[in-house]
Amino acid sequence: MKILILNGPNLNLLGKREPSIYGNVTFNEFLESLTKKYADVGLEYFQSNVEGELINKLHEVGFSYQGIIFNAGAYTHTSVAIGDAIKGIETPVIEVHISNVYAREKFRHQSYIAPNAKGVIAGFGLQSYELALESFL
Ligand code: DQA
Repeated sequence: MKILILNGPNLNLLGKREPSIYGNVTFNEFLESLTKKYADVGLEYFQSNVEGELINKLHEVGFSYQGIIFNAGAYTHTSVAIGDAIKGIETPVIEVHISNVYAREKFRHQSYIAPNAKGVIAGFGLQSYELALESFL
């Protein structure tokens, strides 16, 4: 089973970025423990701050992988192009967020991903990714 974890802009700064919201664990630390725990799953990881690179990755894996766990960061709330890319691929996408975007500013309540996603998991910290993975399994 091939599952991609895809992270968008500013998520490379996890551990340093606004720790009161996003915690102080780096994504690499978290990914290491997740990969160990789910050693029999073909987990792949890609992060980019560039919208087009995220779209290219969706196209690349979107007809062969079994699932995509996608935290598009702020592009969630702005990117029609990413929403269209998800509509155009076959692999199911679960939208995830570390924070509870619905308890934050109003502009974070809008998602261009959710209408095309299998489901949305938000507000459970880094555990949001693991819950999405469990759902695919
Ligand atoms: C986020 C929430 C977004 O609103 C924000 O722009 C992010 C992170 C989250 O994981 O909580 O970059 O996607």
